[in-house]
Amino acid sequence: MSSIVVVGGRRLTGEVRVGGAKNSALKLMAAALLAPGASTLTNVPAIADVDVMHELLAGLGAGAVRSDHALTIDASSLTSHEAPYEMVARMRASTSVLGSLVARLGRARVALPGGCNIGSRKIDMHIEGLRALGVHVDVAHGYIEAVAPDGLTGTVVPLDFPSVGATENLLMAGALARGRTVIENAAREPEIRDLIAFLETMGARIEGAGTSTVTIDGVESLHACEHEVVGDRIEAGTYVVAGALGKGPVTVRGFDPEHLDIVLAKLAAAGVDVDRAKDGVTISRSGPVQPVDVATLPYPGFPTDMQAQFMTLMAVADGSSVITENVFENRFMFADELSRMGADIRIDGHHALVRGVPQLSAAPVRCTDLRGGAALVLAGLVADGTTAVTDVHHIERGYEGFVQKLASLGAEIRTEAAPGAEE
Ligand code: EPZ
Repeated sequence: MSSIVVVGGRRLTGEVRVGGAKNSALKLMAAALLAPGASTLTNVPAIADVDVMHELLAGLGAGAVRSDHALTIDASSLTSHEAPYEMVARMRASTSVLGSLVARLGRARVALPGGCNIGSRKIDMHIEGLRALGVHVDVAHGYIEAVAPDGLTGTVVPLDFPSVGATENLLMAGALARGRTVIENAAREPEIRDLIAFLETMGARIEGAGTSTVTIDGVESLHACEHEVVGDRIEAGTYVVAGALGKGPVTVRGFDPEHLDIVLAKLAAAGVDVDRAKDGVTISRSGPVQPVDVATLPYPGFPTDMQAQFMTLMAVADGSSVITENVFENRFMFADELSRMGADIRIDGHHALVRGVPQLSAAPVRCTDLRGGAALVLAGLVADGTTAVTDVHHIERGYEGFVQKLASLGAEIRTEAAPGAEE
């Protein structure tokens, strides 16, 4: 496994551009299965998870061709309805083909995703929602067997929790269901709006994008089309925190700052200067980092995907803060690694008490998950000495050119192949 080596203490200045959102692109790829023909997605990030989804689509008979950051998916004739275990085990977002397969083919066989390092990641709401639409769903031998012999019939589907994945699967299923589907307590993330925009361009009839009540009037069929993936607000937030740590000025472009509203507000409260533009933001800091409490919540609340990065910033704040994780039940794994760098963090259930320290100290650390891994690299930017972060395949799942972009801001950072690994 390669590692990322970063020497702490460099001031960061300059400009980076983020790519399309991982957490939209993967679902847009799944949604392309709904329509015969070739859909083209642009601003698709070159990340490992997209490669896995690319492979999964090919296995279903939907060939995809990438050219630079555009991806053309031809779903004219699907040859399989199965997302096998070896694919789902590599990337749990493979489950987002469930709704589109059952809507397009009337059946789907998708391996149950295991848990991961941040939580159990259940999909009971996906299954209950599809059952409400008339899909017969059995779960046995580690697989979800979904069959809709009479097609899907729209109805009201209340969600216990505004699950992003459940909302997405139900949107894709409802698009081709008979009649009206109403998702109550739907997720409101910008990536959901992006999926709705793509479905509407394909011919779907959807109201309420960005609200908690989304109405879909099913249509007979959808058509292939072109769509640009929305900018990645979490990739952007990661570089925003890097700029706050490295003092800046750092400009992050390629995303809508409104999608990071509460994060930018919390950074301002932490003593960071935030200067918004239409397609990005400029970050700088002259004084100490002030401690700020945050609690993660579904959008528009503080995003759980920014929790780890923000904890790194609070680890060097001038005081104590409480970080509460309300979305996943086990998303403090990386805090143990951060503590090895001298952070003073006390976990109590879903609260983390972070007592800021004057400086972190470089140490060998291990990525536990995608965002935690990125947060450890951010910690290395301000640690005393040279930090080596291993298991960086977690980071490569969701960040295109992470090392290159930080180096372009002035970080002293490089990737090192594991000893003995082929070059
Ligand atoms: C998506 O995961 C994102 N992943 C996650 O980003 C993100 O953290 C999450 O949404 C919340 O914003 C992708 O889009 C690929 P959920 P998802 O369904 O859809 C529970 C990253 O770092 N739940 O909103 O799985 C679940 O266990 C990743 O980019 C059920 O109990 O999120 C979790 O605790 C990490 N039953 C909570 O809800 C269900 O049927 C939120 O899950 C579904 C979810």
